[in-house]
Amino acid sequence: MSNDALTHPTGAQAATHALLEAATTARYAPSIHNTQPWRWRLIGNVLDLHLERHRVLTVTDPDARLATLSCGAALHHARMALAAQGWRATVVRQPDVTDANHLAQLHIEGRAPADQPSALHLRTIPLRHTDRRPVTGEPVGPQQLQAITAAIEAENTWLHTLRPDQVLQLASAADHAQRTEAQEFAWRDELAYWTGGTRAAGTGIPDAAIPDRATRTTVPGRDFGHHGDLPISAAHDKAAVFALLHGHTDEPRDWLRAGEALSAGWLTAVEHGVSVLPHSAPIEVISTRQAMRAILASTGYPYLMLRLGTIDPADAGPPHAPRLPADQIIEQS
Ligand SMILES: Cc1cc2nc3c(=O)[nH]c(=O)nc-3n(C[C@H](O)[C@H](O)[C@H](O)COP(=O)(O)O)c2cc1C
Repeated sequence: MSNDALTHPTGAQAATHALLEAATTARYAPSIHNTQPWRWRLIGNVLDLHLERHRVLTVTDPDARLATLSCGAALHHARMALAAQGWRATVVRQPDVTDANHLAQLHIEGRAPADQPSALHLRTIPLRHTDRRPVTGEPVGPQQLQAITAAIEAENTWLHTLRPDQVLQLASAADHAQRTEAQEFAWRDELAYWTGGTRAAGTGIPDAAIPDRATRTTVPGRDFGHHGDLPISAAHDKAAVFALLHGHTDEPRDWLRAGEALSAGWLTAVEHGVSVLPHSAPIEVISTRQAMRAILASTGYPYLMLRLGTIDPADAGPPHAPRLPADQIIEQS
């Protein structure tokens, strides 16, 4: 089909169908507490991404920075789906200055050769998931780290790998952040609403994905306030590498880009046998976010902490978290 064919009814229908598929694929994206805070609107060959305020964590994430970052991951998933299927699409971020919830617009311009790296990412998308078990396998090698870093940088975001002394600073910040949050009733309430149980409603983190005891780690992982059903080993994850996603400014547009970078880096990591575990508590609390900024020597703003490592590939790990059905997040007119 030539680009002109978009003006023909069948070509136009194919473009609309491709965008519908892209938004459907984007359901697999990671999101804070699996809130899936996105809503897509599809009209012809244009797909709009909106922040769904009803699924933003108002206590944990009052500025919607982590929700916006999650939407960025969904945007990158959709971009990969289009490029893998040979569609040339333009992306306009924040297309409407009067509507802060309108995060991006994807517009199909025409056909292009199918992009092979995107095709690999498209196959990886349903395989990627969050594994909270300790990373006890081989340490992440320089080539793996280089591939992940390059994927993140290609999305205009940076990855700072922490030195051992900085890991200790991070551990202290993560601990402080979680103690601070746990003192607040509203925060505990919000955490309990989104995590634990069997999650029949298609959102949130099921107990099956939460460790059944405290993980032995230098940097404490997310404290869900209760243990789940995920069996974990008693080994210490001392082989873990900790890194900060960061950038030059700290605006919603940066958070969206950071989400696209998270998706790019995480999919690349999976393709290189590396497990990624985000940890956002040190970003959620202002004082520890500032401590993270100090780690970056004030040259940049931290968006998300990541634990990188390897886990025995023979062990499938936790089941995938549930997802909302497509008709609840995609509007078509
Ligand atoms: C912005 C962001 C922050 C996250 N923070 C944490 C975290 O602090 N601790 C954690 O265990 N998982 C964290 N996650 C992982 C999500 O809980 C996970 O993506 C979600 O439950 C969906 O599950 P899946 O990744 O297995 O598809 C975060 C993910 C994102 C995108």
